[in-house]
Amino acid sequence: MTSFEIPDSELASIKDQVVIITGASSGIGLATLRRIIKHGGKVFASDLNPLPEPEKSSVPFLKVDVTSWKDQVELFKAAEKEYGTIDHVFANAGIGPTVTLLEDDVDENGDLLPPKLNTVNVNLLGCMYTVKLAIFHLKKNSHGGSIVMTASASSFARFPATDYTTAKHAVLGLLRSLHGHLYPKLPIRINAIAPSWTETAIVPREVIAALGKGNYQSADVVARSVTLLMADATRHGELVYSDCGKFKDLENGEMGYHAVTRRMLGVGDGGEMSETGVLKKLSKLAAEAGADREKEGVNKGLDSLKGVVE
Ligand SMILES: NC(=O)c1ccc[n+]([C@@H]2O[C@H](COP(=O)([O-])OP(=O)(O)OC[C@H]3O[C@@H](n4cnc5c(N)ncnc54)[C@H](O)[C@@H]3O)[C@@H](O)[C@H]2O)c1
Repeated sequence: MTSFEIPDSELASIKDQVVIITGASSGIGLATLRRIIKHGGKVFASDLNPLPEPEKSSVPFLKVDVTSWKDQVELFKAAEKEYGTIDHVFANAGIGPTVTLLEDDVDENGDLLPPKLNTVNVNLLGCMYTVKLAIFHLKKNSHGGSIVMTASASSFARFPATDYTTAKHAVLGLLRSLHGHLYPKLPIRINAIAPSWTETAIVPREVIAALGKGNYQSADVVARSVTLLMADATRHGELVYSDCGKFKDLENGEMGYHAVTRRMLGVGDGGEMSETGVLKKLSKLAAEAGADREKEGVNKGLDSLKGVVE
């Protein structure tokens, strides 16, 4: 885990870069749009709701529901048509919690109803759609590009908003599972942000009031972390936590999640019983199976692991 600050100078290389943003009309998405443009970047915005002025008159925009694959396909086509290229994608659209699973809601026969999936659909399925399209388009760039996903402090905390926390944990899962498939095999970096309490429309006013000044941050603080992850070509596989204007990458370094869990599990780096050790064995098996046609069945199952761990 590494703590750091984000001076303006570290955001300068976003200049002339093209960024797609989902959920761009409010909060963290809108603040990121403004910060990127401030540093000379170009944005293609999307949201269910229109952008506010003055951006409404100046920033290319498409109305998109992130839960619609068709909408998102059109978004990427429109951005490419507008700018000729896409350099970075911010998968950000999100809504608050919908269900706890403790509901006793029943149908006309008195049978328990299934949980509503609104939050999972927007916060996870919508993010997966954006990420798949981002990989498809960014891998065409010889100079590469990056994806930033909006996870949350609830991606790792016991935050009691069942579907929201579940979806945000899964966004962290996306970061970890895609990490080995992308850079440097493909010229695509992937990172995520984990904002703590941030003053936006998703957080009820009463909650902000109860937190009190100094205990929440502005959306622009979070926008700085998003812009940095795009602008700094060395950042890959980071989860940047922000709280009251302070930043930490929670994934990497000696105090980061992976190093700490390795120590908790009592295994060395790449040791026989570590997850990495097992993955290395599976990756080798996948390579061997690939060379042996008779093992085709095995190969199919292991194919996704081939070369993921060197
Ligand atoms: N505010 C916080 O404290 C906080 C903390 C951690 C993570 N987040 C995450 O930040 C992201 C942005 O939220 P925010 O805090 O800026 O809230 P916000 O409500 O201000 O912005 C969310 C935006 O997403 C849009 N949106 C919602 N559903 C959509 C859909 N189906 N398709 C397209 N756009 C849709 C909304 O119209 C809105 O403009 C979310 O993923 C949220 O979970 C927020």
